[in-house]
Amino acid sequence: MVIATALLFFSFVALAACSSSTCTFIPSINATTTNYPGSSFVKTSTYPYNVSDLSNVPIATICTSPTGNRTAELACARTYIDAIDEQLAFLYARRLGYAAVAGVSKFATNTSLNEPSRNDVVAAGMAAKVLKFGATEAAGAVMGGEGCMIYAALEYEAEIIQEDCDSRFTVDVERVCK
Ligand SMILES: *[C@@H]1O[C@H](CO)[C@@H](O)[C@H](O)[C@H]1NC(C)=O
Ligand SMILES: *[C@@H]1O[C@H](CO)[C@@H](O)[C@H](O)[C@H]1NC(C)=O
Ligand SMILES: *[C@@H]1O[C@H](CO)[C@@H](O)[C@H](O)[C@H]1NC(C)=O
Ligand SMILES: *[C@@H]1O[C@H](CO)[C@@H](O)[C@H](O)[C@H]1NC(C)=O
Repeated sequence: MVIATALLFFSFVALAACSSSTCTFIPSINATTTNYPGSSFVKTSTYPYNVSDLSNVPIATICTSPTGNRTAELACARTYIDAIDEQLAFLYARRLGYAAVAGVSKFATNTSLNEPSRNDVVAAGMAAKVLKFGATEAAGAVMGGEGCMIYAALEYEAEIIQEDCDSRFTVDVERVCK
């Protein structure tokens, strides 16, 4: 794990403009129960599978061309990648919502947003899960935090705290993503 937590510098300007005890996370107007991939309430392009049902996500060999047509394979792969990105984006936005709740919660109790031990657990957990579902631990670790997800979440949490709690709150994150 190469999470260089030593490179994360957090400066709290905890001069509590509004009372931190009453501060709560206000979700985006786009975070609704009807706004999700495949929702009948959302007009979207047609997906190559039922995005509301994970059991419908095919294994990538569905794009292997029996005649070795590489152009067809590439086009096919991109179609599925775009659909999966829709699901990832949705889950990522949902996840960031929970990160914001955690961030505001920590802000309200004057606790540091960054918890290096927790970051390690998240990255290791994602590595194990990605391996379990068919890719590599190394790729999962990057998604979980060795890359950018944790840094992006910390910056998002700080932004939310600025909007919902204290406009003077600052957090300086020096990313170590490669
Ligand atoms: C909501 O989503 C639309 C795109 O569908 C985007 O243009 C808009 O900026 C989003 N609004 C907010 C508040 O995030
Ligand atoms: C897609 O999957 C969802 C969840 O399983 C199901 O409710 C829905 O009927 C499916 N849609 C189609 C078009 O099969
Ligand atoms: C290969 O696939 C592409 C895209 O589907 C198609 O346009 C092209 O005609 C195919 N080439 C051959 C040799 O079948
Ligand atoms: C918040 O924590 C900081 C750093 O630990 C400390 O200096 C400050 O007094 C605390 N503020 C409150 C309101 O407890």
